[in-house]
Amino acid sequence: MDWSPKNAASALSSSSKTVIVVFLVLLLGGFFSTRWIDTSSFGSSSSNTSLFTAIFSSTHLRQSITIPSSKQKPYGPLTCPLQNNTCPSPLEHTLVPLLTPTATTPPPPSCPAFFRWIYEDLRPWSSTGITRDMVEGARGKANFRLVMVGGRTYLDKYHGAFQTRDVFTLWGFLQLLRQYPGRVPDLDLMFNLDDLPVVRAADYRPGEAPPPLFRYCKDDSTVDIVFPDWSFWGWPEVNIKPWEVLLEELKKGNERVKWKHREPHAYWKGNPWVSPTRQDLIKCNVSDTNDWNARLYSQDWVQETRGGFKSSDLASQCTHRYKIYIEGRAWSVSEKYILACNSPTLLVNTGFRDFFTRGLMPGQHYLPIRSDDKCRSIKSAVDWGNSHQKKAQAVGKEGSRFVQEELKMEYVYDYMLHLLSEYSKLLRYRPSVPEGAVELCPESMACPRGGREKEYMAGSAVKAPRDAEPCAIPAPFSPGELQEFLRSKDDAVAQVEKWN
Ligand SMILES: *[C@@H]1O[C@H](CO)[C@@H](O)[C@H](O)[C@H]1NC(C)=O
Ligand SMILES: *[C@@H]1O[C@H](CO)[C@@H](O)[C@H](O)[C@H]1NC(C)=O
Ligand SMILES: *[C@@H]1O[C@H](CO)[C@@H](O)[C@H](O)[C@H]1NC(C)=O
Repeated sequence: MDWSPKNAASALSSSSKTVIVVFLVLLLGGFFSTRWIDTSSFGSSSSNTSLFTAIFSSTHLRQSITIPSSKQKPYGPLTCPLQNNTCPSPLEHTLVPLLTPTATTPPPPSCPAFFRWIYEDLRPWSSTGITRDMVEGARGKANFRLVMVGGRTYLDKYHGAFQTRDVFTLWGFLQLLRQYPGRVPDLDLMFNLDDLPVVRAADYRPGEAPPPLFRYCKDDSTVDIVFPDWSFWGWPEVNIKPWEVLLEELKKGNERVKWKHREPHAYWKGNPWVSPTRQDLIKCNVSDTNDWNARLYSQDWVQETRGGFKSSDLASQCTHRYKIYIEGRAWSVSEKYILACNSPTLLVNTGFRDFFTRGLMPGQHYLPIRSDDKCRSIKSAVDWGNSHQKKAQAVGKEGSRFVQEELKMEYVYDYMLHLLSEYSKLLRYRPSVPEGAVELCPESMACPRGGREKEYMAGSAVKAPRDAEPCAIPAPFSPGELQEFLRSKDDAVAQVEKWN
């Protein structure tokens, strides 16, 4: 059997009719996750953290979800069940254009540098604009079409997805509307939920616009439009809590063992079976005959799921001085958790980029590792770090600062808002609701759910509209600047290789 996500997705959707098969799928869910979950770790099952203050009170027939907030104008509780099967009217739906600072408000601070890539991702359509035909041309590659009109959200679903990545991706769109009511423009977009980018630039003639398709990552040969992945709102199947909650736990977890007292090796824990490059990495594990300074462990998700994820708590994995990041089938959601440890990330060179990794600089936020000579490269990076401890700690701190500051949830929403705003400027037509699409709202998504899914929705619900402007998006790269940026990245890799 081929355990590709496509098959998993079709298995999930085609089998959902019979209880027996559903049961089977649930059973296999644990096995699937062993295939794809890259990160070493998952949050513990106790969700009693300071930020996790969402309260569910459920009575027999009516439930209400109360989401307390420290901000001034918090949203009221969601009313469950959904009244009359109809989503409530959006609070505000007069569009306030972005980037029009008023006389009374100072201009907002600049967004992190990786926001510049929004322009690069949309460049294939910069001269043609985006027509309805182009969007519909992506239909064959999309899991769903999402349309936003007047602050309301409509879903036209084509294919199911692996686990709940579709649910938490859509939840993210709805939370953006809560973060910035009245600021999200009308939209019409196609989204693919699989790992691998599919819109190959080489398949289109110069001047011919490819179909615009949103997904989680791309590489240099593809023109998929990258968007934050579902794990920012939570990954209930493997106990990965919403990013805002986890970021706080990681910060605390980090303080448990000082860097100097951590094991002086490079640590990785994950699923080695998802890609040949991970199989290759495993060869660097410590053995009777070799010590490449690598301590590598494979993650048994079946056991983790049964054991309540006790040995996969992300916040208690900052125990080694170095942490290895390696791609899975494509990008891996584990990167942000690995970077958060204050231990330098040894990043095995990868061609896959998600929205934020384009802001990382080798030698500053991480230490690059050659993918064609992993063992020696890891050994020399660790040897270098142990004999240049101040410099190594600085790299570890800088990687963690990046995720704590530049990747905080506020900026994830700002990235979404700027990307969608720039995308909507390219639309050459007025989006309208496709026939058969259903309206989505937080009530329609959260009310019917239970368990960890509902818990994570409460934990990632935006508690109040943001009371400040989004950050100001930096100007696009000029062609010279982009060349220069890419060259400086290559130079930095060469520089770090010289340290070793
Ligand atoms: C959970 O939080 C509550 C209130 O903050 C506290 O009283 C309780 O002891 C906590 N429980 C656990 C298991 O940490
Ligand atoms: C629900 O539907 C009924 C019948 O159509 C209508 O009278 C009532 O006002 C509706 N309630 C809400 C909250 O929309
Ligand atoms: C790597 O070696 C350690 C120590 O011998 C062992 O415990 C671990 O299971 C090995 N990892 C893998 C993935 O085989």
